[in-house]
Amino acid sequence: MPDQVNVGLIGTGSLGSELARAVARGDAGSAVIVGLFDEYAPGRSALAQELGSNGGSAPTEFDDVADLIALPGLDLVVECASQVAVFAHAENVLAAGKSMLVMSSGALVDADFMRKVSAAAAKSGASIYVPSGAVGGIDTLRAAKPLLESVTIVSTKKPIALSGAPGFADWEDVEITEPTVIFEGSATEAVELFPANVNVAATVSLAGIGPDATKIKVVADPDSPGNVHEINAVSRAGKFSFRFENKPHETNPKTSFLAVLSAIETLRSICDPGLRIGT
Ligand SMILES: NC(=O)c1ccc[n+]([C@@H]2O[C@H](COP(=O)([O-])OP(=O)(O)OC[C@H]3O[C@@H](n4cnc5c(N)ncnc54)[C@H](O)[C@@H]3O)[C@@H](O)[C@H]2O)c1
Repeated sequence: MPDQVNVGLIGTGSLGSELARAVARGDAGSAVIVGLFDEYAPGRSALAQELGSNGGSAPTEFDDVADLIALPGLDLVVECASQVAVFAHAENVLAAGKSMLVMSSGALVDADFMRKVSAAAAKSGASIYVPSGAVGGIDTLRAAKPLLESVTIVSTKKPIALSGAPGFADWEDVEITEPTVIFEGSATEAVELFPANVNVAATVSLAGIGPDATKIKVVADPDSPGNVHEINAVSRAGKFSFRFENKPHETNPKTSFLAVLSAIETLRSICDPGLRIGT
Protein backbone atom coordinates (compact mmCIF):
# COMPACT_ATOMS: atom_id res chain seq x y z
CA MET A 1 0.00 0.00 0.00
CA PRO A 2 1.22 3.57 -0.75
CA ASP A 3 2.24 6.15 1.91
CA GLN A 4 -1.24 7.65 1.74
CA VAL A 5 -4.18 5.30 1.17
CA ASN A 6 -6.92 7.20 -0.67
CA VAL A 7 -10.34 5.94 0.40
CA GLY A 8 -13.75 6.41 -1.21
CA LEU A 9 -16.62 6.00 1.24
CA ILE A 10 -20.03 4.64 0.19
CA GLY A 11 -22.56 5.40 2.94
CA THR A 12 -22.33 8.41 5.23
CA GLY A 13 -24.84 7.30 7.90
CA SER A 14 -24.04 6.29 11.48
CA LEU A 15 -21.18 3.90 10.79
CA GLY A 16 -19.69 5.72 7.79
CA SER A 17 -19.67 9.08 9.60
CA GLU A 18 -17.98 7.69 12.70
CA LEU A 19 -15.44 5.86 10.57
CA ALA A 20 -14.70 9.06 8.58
CA ARG A 21 -14.23 11.05 11.80
CA ALA A 22 -11.82 8.40 13.10
CA VAL A 23 -9.86 8.47 9.85
CA ALA A 24 -9.66 12.28 10.07
CA ARG A 25 -8.23 11.94 13.62
CA GLY A 26 -5.52 9.65 12.22
CA ASP A 27 -6.85 6.49 13.90
CA ALA A 28 -6.63 4.47 10.69
CA GLY A 29 -2.95 5.09 9.88
CA SER A 30 -2.31 6.55 6.45
CA ALA A 31 -5.93 6.30 5.26
CA VAL A 32 -7.47 9.54 3.96
CA ILE A 33 -11.12 9.83 2.91
CA VAL A 34 -10.95 11.52 -0.49
CA GLY A 35 -14.45 10.86 -1.85
CA LEU A 36 -17.98 10.38 -0.52
CA PHE A 37 -21.03 8.78 -2.09
CA ASP A 38 -24.46 8.47 -0.48
CA GLU A 39 -27.89 8.57 -2.08
CA TYR A 40 -28.99 10.91 0.73
CA ALA A 41 -27.23 14.08 -0.43
CA PRO A 42 -27.84 16.26 2.69
CA GLY A 43 -26.13 13.74 4.99
CA ARG A 44 -23.27 13.32 2.57
CA SER A 45 -22.75 17.10 2.26
CA ALA A 46 -22.92 17.63 6.02
CA LEU A 47 -20.15 15.08 6.55
CA ALA A 48 -18.00 16.56 3.75
CA GLN A 49 -18.32 20.01 5.32
CA GLU A 50 -17.56 18.73 8.81
CA LEU A 51 -14.41 16.92 7.62
CA GLY A 52 -13.28 20.00 5.70
CA SER A 53 -13.88 22.37 8.60
CA ASN A 54 -11.65 20.46 11.01
CA GLY A 55 -8.40 21.49 9.40
CA GLY A 56 -8.45 18.73 6.80
CA SER A 57 -9.38 19.00 3.15
CA ALA A 58 -13.04 18.24 2.39
CA PRO A 59 -13.55 15.02 0.45
CA THR A 60 -15.12 15.32 -2.97
CA GLU A 61 -18.83 14.46 -3.10
CA PHE A 62 -20.14 12.15 -5.81
CA ASP A 63 -23.66 11.55 -7.18
CA ASP A 64 -22.50 8.46 -9.01
CA VAL A 65 -20.29 5.59 -7.86
CA ALA A 66 -18.73 5.30 -11.34
CA ASP A 67 -17.25 8.80 -10.89
CA LEU A 68 -16.00 7.91 -7.41
CA ILE A 69 -14.25 4.80 -8.77
CA ALA A 70 -12.65 6.90 -11.53
CA LEU A 71 -11.19 9.42 -9.04
CA PRO A 72 -7.44 9.59 -9.82
CA GLY A 73 -5.33 7.92 -7.14
CA LEU A 74 -8.22 6.13 -5.43
CA ASP A 75 -6.88 3.01 -3.67
CA LEU A 76 -9.79 1.54 -1.74
CA VAL A 77 -13.57 1.76 -1.39
CA VAL A 78 -15.22 1.36 2.01
CA GLU A 79 -18.90 0.39 2.03
CA CYS A 80 -20.99 1.44 5.05
CA ALA A 81 -24.38 1.68 3.31
CA SER A 82 -26.59 -1.38 2.74
CA GLN A 83 -26.77 -4.78 1.10
CA VAL A 84 -28.46 -3.03 -1.85
CA ALA A 85 -25.38 -0.82 -2.30
CA VAL A 86 -23.08 -3.84 -2.22
CA PHE A 87 -25.17 -5.64 -4.85
CA ALA A 88 -25.21 -2.50 -7.01
CA HIS A 89 -21.56 -1.47 -6.84
CA ALA A 90 -19.15 -4.15 -5.57
CA GLU A 91 -18.54 -5.87 -8.89
CA ASN A 92 -17.73 -2.57 -10.65
CA VAL A 93 -15.46 -1.41 -7.83
CA LEU A 94 -13.50 -4.67 -7.83
CA ALA A 95 -13.39 -4.95 -11.62
CA ALA A 96 -11.76 -1.50 -11.65
CA GLY A 97 -8.96 -2.91 -9.47
CA LYS A 98 -10.05 -1.09 -6.31
CA SER A 99 -10.09 -3.19 -3.16
CA MET A 100 -13.25 -2.98 -1.09
CA LEU A 101 -14.02 -3.12 2.60
CA VAL A 102 -17.59 -4.39 3.04
CA MET A 103 -19.62 -3.77 6.20
CA SER A 104 -22.99 -4.97 4.81
CA SER A 105 -21.66 -8.52 4.70
CA GLY A 106 -25.17 -9.98 4.32
CA ALA A 107 -24.89 -9.40 0.57
CA LEU A 108 -21.97 -11.82 0.35
CA VAL A 109 -24.17 -14.69 1.57
CA ASP A 110 -25.73 -14.80 -1.92
CA ALA A 111 -23.62 -17.56 -3.52
CA ASP A 112 -24.06 -16.40 -7.14
CA PHE A 113 -23.18 -12.82 -6.23
CA MET A 114 -20.19 -13.99 -4.17
CA ARG A 115 -18.91 -15.96 -7.19
CA LYS A 116 -19.24 -12.87 -9.39
CA VAL A 117 -17.45 -10.49 -7.04
CA SER A 118 -14.73 -13.04 -6.24
CA ALA A 119 -14.12 -13.50 -9.97
CA ALA A 120 -13.95 -9.72 -10.50
CA ALA A 121 -11.47 -9.39 -7.62
CA ALA A 122 -9.33 -12.30 -8.80
CA LYS A 123 -9.16 -10.86 -12.33
CA SER A 124 -8.15 -7.35 -11.26
CA GLY A 125 -6.02 -8.34 -8.24
CA ALA A 126 -8.23 -6.40 -5.83
CA SER A 127 -9.14 -7.67 -2.36
CA ILE A 128 -12.45 -7.90 -0.49
CA TYR A 129 -12.13 -7.14 3.23
CA VAL A 130 -14.90 -8.09 5.67
CA PRO A 131 -14.27 -6.77 9.20
CA SER A 132 -15.34 -8.90 12.16
CA GLY A 133 -17.87 -6.11 12.82
CA ALA A 134 -20.05 -6.35 15.90
CA VAL A 135 -18.48 -9.65 17.08
CA GLY A 136 -15.13 -11.41 17.44
CA GLY A 137 -13.89 -14.98 17.26
CA ILE A 138 -13.81 -14.83 13.47
CA ASP A 139 -10.14 -15.88 13.43
CA THR A 140 -11.04 -18.96 15.52
CA LEU A 141 -13.83 -19.98 13.15
CA ARG A 142 -11.56 -19.50 10.13
CA ALA A 143 -8.81 -21.59 11.70
CA ALA A 144 -11.15 -24.40 12.73
CA LYS A 145 -13.18 -24.24 9.49
CA PRO A 146 -12.33 -27.73 8.17
CA LEU A 147 -13.13 -29.27 11.57
CA LEU A 148 -16.35 -27.42 12.38
CA GLU A 149 -19.44 -29.52 13.08
CA SER A 150 -21.94 -26.82 14.05
CA VAL A 151 -22.13 -23.05 14.53
CA THR A 152 -25.11 -21.43 16.22
CA ILE A 153 -25.77 -17.77 17.01
CA VAL A 154 -28.32 -16.16 19.31
CA SER A 155 -28.77 -12.41 18.62
CA THR A 156 -30.83 -10.57 21.23
CA LYS A 157 -31.94 -6.96 20.67
CA LYS A 158 -34.56 -4.59 21.97
CA PRO A 159 -37.73 -4.76 19.79
CA ILE A 160 -37.08 -1.21 18.50
CA ALA A 161 -33.74 -2.37 17.07
CA LEU A 162 -35.57 -4.92 14.89
CA SER A 163 -38.36 -2.58 13.79
CA GLY A 164 -38.58 -2.11 10.03
CA ALA A 165 -37.10 -5.51 9.16
CA PRO A 166 -39.31 -7.70 6.92
CA GLY A 167 -38.87 -10.53 9.43
CA PHE A 168 -40.33 -8.33 12.18
CA ALA A 169 -43.42 -7.20 10.21
CA ASP A 170 -45.85 -9.45 12.16
CA TRP A 171 -44.49 -8.12 15.45
CA GLU A 172 -44.55 -4.36 14.79
CA ASP A 173 -47.84 -3.81 16.65
CA VAL A 174 -47.32 -6.46 19.33
CA GLU A 175 -46.23 -5.37 22.79
CA ILE A 176 -43.27 -7.59 23.59
CA THR A 177 -42.81 -7.81 27.36
CA GLU A 178 -40.40 -10.75 27.68
CA PRO A 179 -37.65 -12.41 25.62
CA THR A 180 -39.41 -13.64 22.46
CA VAL A 181 -37.96 -15.69 19.61
CA ILE A 182 -38.73 -13.80 16.39
CA PHE A 183 -36.83 -16.01 13.98
CA GLU A 184 -34.98 -19.30 13.99
CA GLY A 185 -33.30 -20.66 10.87
CA SER A 186 -30.24 -20.42 8.63
CA ALA A 187 -28.03 -17.38 8.10
CA THR A 188 -29.13 -17.50 4.44
CA GLU A 189 -32.78 -16.90 5.42
CA ALA A 190 -31.87 -14.44 8.18
CA VAL A 191 -30.01 -11.96 5.95
CA GLU A 192 -33.08 -11.66 3.72
CA LEU A 193 -35.54 -11.19 6.58
CA PHE A 194 -33.28 -8.91 8.68
CA PRO A 195 -31.00 -7.22 6.10
CA ALA A 196 -29.75 -4.49 8.45
CA ASN A 197 -29.64 -6.56 11.65
CA VAL A 198 -27.79 -9.81 11.08
CA ASN A 199 -24.52 -8.97 9.37
CA VAL A 200 -23.05 -10.86 12.31
CA ALA A 201 -24.63 -14.09 11.05
CA ALA A 202 -23.34 -13.40 7.55
CA THR A 203 -19.76 -12.71 8.67
CA VAL A 204 -19.70 -15.70 11.06
CA SER A 205 -21.07 -17.99 8.35
CA LEU A 206 -18.62 -16.79 5.69
CA ALA A 207 -15.72 -17.44 8.10
CA GLY A 208 -17.04 -20.83 9.21
CA ILE A 209 -19.37 -23.50 7.84
CA GLY A 210 -21.31 -21.41 5.37
CA PRO A 211 -24.65 -19.59 5.44
CA ASP A 212 -26.94 -22.62 5.03
CA ALA A 213 -25.35 -24.60 7.87
CA THR A 214 -24.96 -21.64 10.27
CA LYS A 215 -28.05 -21.42 12.47
CA ILE A 216 -29.31 -18.21 14.06
CA LYS A 217 -32.02 -17.35 16.55
CA VAL A 218 -33.18 -13.71 16.66
CA VAL A 219 -34.67 -12.76 20.02
CA ALA A 220 -36.51 -9.54 20.90
CA ASP A 221 -36.10 -8.62 24.56
CA PRO A 222 -37.24 -5.25 25.95
CA ASP A 223 -34.74 -5.63 28.80
CA SER A 224 -31.76 -6.54 26.62
CA PRO A 225 -28.70 -4.58 27.77
CA GLY A 226 -27.88 -3.78 24.13
CA ASN A 227 -27.25 -5.83 21.03
CA VAL A 228 -26.10 -9.16 22.44
CA HIS A 229 -24.61 -11.89 20.26
CA GLU A 230 -23.79 -15.37 21.55
CA ILE A 231 -21.87 -17.69 19.23
CA ASN A 232 -21.32 -21.39 19.94
CA ALA A 233 -19.16 -23.55 17.71
CA VAL A 234 -18.52 -27.27 18.01
CA SER A 235 -15.52 -28.69 16.17
CA ARG A 236 -13.07 -31.57 16.29
CA ALA A 237 -10.54 -29.04 17.62
CA GLY A 238 -12.75 -28.12 20.58
CA LYS A 239 -15.87 -26.25 21.61
CA PHE A 240 -15.82 -22.46 21.42
CA SER A 241 -18.26 -20.00 22.96
CA PHE A 242 -18.24 -16.22 22.50
CA ARG A 243 -20.58 -13.63 23.97
CA PHE A 244 -20.68 -9.96 22.92
CA GLU A 245 -22.76 -7.43 24.80
CA ASN A 246 -22.39 -4.40 22.56
CA LYS A 247 -22.70 -0.82 23.73
CA PRO A 248 -23.86 1.88 21.34
CA HIS A 249 -21.18 4.26 20.11
CA GLU A 250 -20.50 6.95 22.74
CA THR A 251 -21.28 9.83 20.39
CA ASN A 252 -23.58 8.04 17.98
CA PRO A 253 -26.08 5.66 19.65
CA LYS A 254 -27.39 4.54 16.26
CA THR A 255 -24.40 2.28 15.74
CA SER A 256 -22.53 -0.38 17.77
CA PHE A 257 -19.27 0.88 19.22
CA LEU A 258 -17.50 -2.39 18.35
CA ALA A 259 -18.63 -2.29 14.69
CA VAL A 260 -17.06 1.17 14.31
CA LEU A 261 -13.86 0.07 16.05
CA SER A 262 -13.66 -3.04 13.90
CA ALA A 263 -14.00 -1.02 10.68
CA ILE A 264 -11.28 1.40 11.86
CA GLU A 265 -8.91 -1.40 12.84
CA THR A 266 -9.43 -3.27 9.57
CA LEU A 267 -8.73 -0.08 7.61
CA ARG A 268 -5.67 0.64 9.76
CA SER A 269 -4.30 -2.86 9.22
CA ILE A 270 -4.81 -2.60 5.44
CA CYS A 271 -2.69 0.60 5.49
CA ASP A 272 -0.04 -0.83 7.83
CA PRO A 273 2.33 -3.33 6.21
CA GLY A 274 3.83 -4.30 9.60
CA LEU A 275 2.92 -6.74 12.33
CA ARG A 276 -0.40 -8.62 12.00
CA ILE A 277 -1.84 -10.26 15.09
CA GLY A 278 -4.69 -12.76 14.94
CA THR A 279 -5.42 -12.26 11.26
N1 LIG B 1 -20.75 -6.04 9.84
C1 LIG B 1 -21.30 -5.58 10.97
O1 LIG B 1 -21.12 -6.14 12.05
C2 LIG B 1 -22.14 -4.33 10.91
C3 LIG B 1 -22.38 -3.57 12.05
C4 LIG B 1 -23.13 -2.41 11.95
C5 LIG B 1 -23.69 -2.05 10.71
N2 LIG B 1 -23.47 -2.84 9.63
C6 LIG B 1 -24.05 -2.50 8.32
O2 LIG B 1 -23.40 -1.37 7.82
C7 LIG B 1 -24.31 -0.63 7.01
C8 LIG B 1 -24.34 0.84 7.49
O3 LIG B 1 -24.84 0.88 8.82
P1 LIG B 1 -25.30 2.25 9.48
O4 LIG B 1 -25.62 1.94 10.89
O5 LIG B 1 -24.31 3.30 9.17
O6 LIG B 1 -26.66 2.56 8.67
P2 LIG B 1 -27.30 4.00 8.44
O7 LIG B 1 -28.72 3.73 8.04
O8 LIG B 1 -27.05 4.91 9.59
O9 LIG B 1 -26.51 4.60 7.18
C9 LIG B 1 -26.54 4.02 5.91
C10 LIG B 1 -26.26 5.12 4.88
O10 LIG B 1 -26.09 4.49 3.62
C11 LIG B 1 -26.89 5.16 2.65
N3 LIG B 1 -27.30 4.16 1.66
C12 LIG B 1 -28.02 3.03 1.88
N4 LIG B 1 -28.17 2.37 0.74
C13 LIG B 1 -27.54 3.08 -0.24
C14 LIG B 1 -27.35 2.89 -1.62
N5 LIG B 1 -27.87 1.84 -2.26
N6 LIG B 1 -26.64 3.82 -2.29
C15 LIG B 1 -26.13 4.90 -1.65
N7 LIG B 1 -26.27 5.14 -0.34
C16 LIG B 1 -26.98 4.23 0.37
C17 LIG B 1 -28.06 5.77 3.40
O11 LIG B 1 -28.58 6.91 2.74
C18 LIG B 1 -27.42 6.13 4.75
O12 LIG B 1 -26.91 7.44 4.77
C19 LIG B 1 -25.68 -1.32 7.13
O13 LIG B 1 -25.89 -2.19 6.02
C20 LIG B 1 -25.54 -2.13 8.40
O14 LIG B 1 -26.37 -3.28 8.40
C21 LIG B 1 -22.69 -3.95 9.69
